[in-house]
Amino acid sequence: MADANESPSAPNPEETPKSDPAASPEAAAPASSEKAAESPEAAKPQAPAAPAAGAPKPAAPKPAPKPAAPKEPPDPAKVEAAKKAAAAKLAAAKAKAKAKAEDLPPPEEFTTRRTFLSWGMAAWVIFFGWLGGIGHLCLRFMFPRVLYEKDPKFRAGKRSDFPEVNKVYELFKEVQGVWLVRLVEDGEDRLVALSTVCTHLGCTPNWLEAEAKFKCPCHGSGFYKSGVNFEGPAPRPLERYRLYTDGAGDVLVDKSVKFREDLGQWGQPESFVKMA
Ligand code: FES
Repeated sequence: MADANESPSAPNPEETPKSDPAASPEAAAPASSEKAAESPEAAKPQAPAAPAAGAPKPAAPKPAPKPAAPKEPPDPAKVEAAKKAAAAKLAAAKAKAKAKAEDLPPPEEFTTRRTFLSWGMAAWVIFFGWLGGIGHLCLRFMFPRVLYEKDPKFRAGKRSDFPEVNKVYELFKEVQGVWLVRLVEDGEDRLVALSTVCTHLGCTPNWLEAEAKFKCPCHGSGFYKSGVNFEGPAPRPLERYRLYTDGAGDVLVDKSVKFREDLGQWGQPESFVKMA
């Protein structure tokens, strides 16, 4: 920046040798005062010279900071409402986190332990099953294979338990599959034991007292009380079982022995018991 006190009439330093004492400021000052005395206009104080081109500009003055506005006291109602809203938000976040935690699958460690226990239980079940099978085979080996059936013989009672002639007794129909029938046959008062198995396809006929016949419900075969078939598809009479008496006079039925009318076996001695 050029010195503001410098006048345009200042001597050029290049024209004045430095060693010349006349060119010093002290020497130049009387000359300037002389020129000012010669020209009253030159004696006027001059305006500061414009800054030279290329010289750095002075920094702009910073604006002064505004004074802070005085704070108003907060509204208690608003503060309370804000607190409540924050508490509600926090509670909602906690509830959401809890729900998410409940929805999470069980920890890996727990799942692994449960799986291990399940496999352990399965192994024990298989082991005991194998052990049971081995034990069963051992028992089957130690005991003979015997077919256990009901005793084909049963005690029907005494003769006096069948007092009526031409009467069908159904005491043993359900339990033993036998009808005991007292009838007169070949001029004799006899007690016979009839099988309850239809000779057509094996159904169980019913005794119809009013019609005095056995009637098969499957295909309609009919049998007299003697067991002889007379209607329906049944091909032959009902079978009779062996009847005999013991020393006490009791009547016994042996279902292991059968007598067929079509084979001429109804006349055999043990196919009936004489009642008189
Ligand atoms: S099974 Fe008795 S009639 Fe056919």
